Amino acid sequence: MLEPSVLARITDDLVAHGYSIHPDLASPARCAALRERALERERQGELRLAAIGRAEERHIDPEVRSDRIAWLGREAPIEAEHLGALDELAGHLCRELYLGLRDHEAHFALFGPGAFYRRHLDRFRRRGARVISTVLYLNEAWPADAGGELRIFEPGRPEHVAAEVSPRAGTLVVFLSDRVWHEVLPTARTRLSVAGWLREATLL
Ligand code: OGA
Ligand code: MN
Repeated sequence: MLEPSVLARITDDLVAHGYSIHPDLASPARCAALRERALERERQGELRLAAIGRAEERHIDPEVRSDRIAWLGREAPIEAEHLGALDELAGHLCRELYLGLRDHEAHFALFGPGAFYRRHLDRFRRRGARVISTVLYLNEAWPADAGGELRIFEPGRPEHVAAEVSPRAGTLVVFLSDRVWHEVLPTARTRLSVAGWLREATLL
């Protein structure tokens, strides 16, 4: 599903910069199908306020993040396809970068008007931890004044902004979970995405 040239650029970018940004990567049809599925799950009441922090300290804090999420599964074909693409990316990065990636997880996220996610890293744990973060945006039209940008900071220099990404349908962002600080700026309109993580293999 992912073109070899895209896989090659993701690998090169991760090595050189720690992040990789791909506008128009996913087709409008795929984004529409994922968007429909996310909205269907929203209608079914399956989106829940997201938690932060590690195992025993896990809690909900709307001052840190105010998106609502639903985990992807293998039953719905469109969700299974997205997880399949993450599998493919994991296989590629394992071969090219000798990463021991074993499993992955992904959730739909809905940021309602006014929602945000303050600056953070995606890695909480030493074991079974997230190594690679991915976000695919699903928003058909996104005016410049709608906010909701993903702000990425330079690895190792978290006071320097490296990039700001508008959450337009089809854009894929990939970055190193433990090195790249990032935040979601407050959005003025409903913002949909699929966030996915490739996790390292663990012994025990
Ligand atoms: C996250 C996250 C970024 C985005 O869910 O951890 O940082 O742009 N999402 O939605
Ligand atoms: Mn994050």
